[in-house]
Amino acid sequence: LQRLCPRGKSPPGQWPASVLTQFEQNSKVTVLGAGGGIGQPLSLLMKLNPRVSELALYDIKGAPGVAADVGHINTNSVVKGYDAGEAGLKDALTGSEIVLIPAGVPRKPGMTRDDLFNTNASIVRDLAKAAATAAPKANILVISNPVNSTVPICAEVFKAHGVYDPKRLFGVTTLDVVRASRFISQNKSTDPANENITVVGGHSGATIVPLLSQSGYELSGEALDKYVNRVQFGGDEVVQAKGGAGSATLSMAMAGARFAESLLKAAQGEKGVVEPTFVDSPLYKDQGIDFFASRVELGPNGVENILPVGDITPYEQKLLDACLKDLKGNIAKGVQFVKENP
Ligand code: NAD
Ligand code: LMR
Repeated sequence: LQRLCPRGKSPPGQWPASVLTQFEQNSKVTVLGAGGGIGQPLSLLMKLNPRVSELALYDIKGAPGVAADVGHINTNSVVKGYDAGEAGLKDALTGSEIVLIPAGVPRKPGMTRDDLFNTNASIVRDLAKAAATAAPKANILVISNPVNSTVPICAEVFKAHGVYDPKRLFGVTTLDVVRASRFISQNKSTDPANENITVVGGHSGATIVPLLSQSGYELSGEALDKYVNRVQFGGDEVVQAKGGAGSATLSMAMAGARFAESLLKAAQGEKGVVEPTFVDSPLYKDQGIDFFASRVELGPNGVENILPVGDITPYEQKLLDACLKDLKGNIAKGVQFVKENP
């Protein structure tokens, strides 16, 4: 099995029966925003995942078309596309184990992720309301930006519905780790598949804190500054290159699919599954910061164990201090939004 599907390298297409018997194919996965730049390739990757039994695709436009297309791929899962509207959304969510949310507008050059707040906050709030009613026990994976605020928005909505389980709400920050690993491999001419750089904090500019020292690398001076800047602003590289046509979609789909796969593995009993993610975290609650991304061990109930940040250099401590300052405001903004716009 390890040879056929080493971590992160699941082969597409049909799986031999001998392999399938070692997976449980019994998980319904829902994608909200399935018609979009991320939603489409993410739906494709989830269709290739042998642990998924049912794939429910919802969007305010185009989900049935994506479902018809993806549904022709010769893997066993059933794909259903749902029409826009309350009834379609409810049906897409009912019985779901994992709800991936890439619904919302992406950045254009010159914008920060926080500039998306005005549009995306209400989109995420409304989808969270629907999930709190139709899939209160699902794992909710928030991709829509600004993640530092949209995750607290979901938490507030779930609290208001009396169904908040902090172990089941995740801001997807996997792309930061994917980039950090890719960029160091370019720097050091190593195989990126063997790199796993720890990134903590949140998902925007200064809140993205790569902890290179924990992987034994000793970049310094300008080389270190450049590396950190590239990880913190990797998203801007893509936004610039796309010239107004959106932000990262393909790398994000890969990162989202990796995170969902990790949750599915952990749900099916695999031990030691660790992913970075932005969660309700005890690590900086004493400083008034309720959500923080760090390495998190996943289990059948979602969050199993939130790992501490660990030893860091004075340089990394400075980055972390700047992160915590920004993060506090981002989180408060999300909480305040739901209070004022329930
Ligand atoms: P996109 O515009 O291509 O797709 C978004 C989709 O959401 C569209 O199909 C749209 O119809 C749909 N949508 C809008 N409102 C909806 C609603 N109420 N219900 C269901 N669907 C709805 O954008 P994209 O490039 O796919 O990016 C989506 C979001 O993901 C953006 O906010 C972007 O900033 C964010 N993002 C996050 C990360 C991350 O690392 N977390 C990475 C890349 C992008
Ligand atoms: C990313 O990191 O690529 C996403 O958050 C999208 C963006 O706006 O940069």
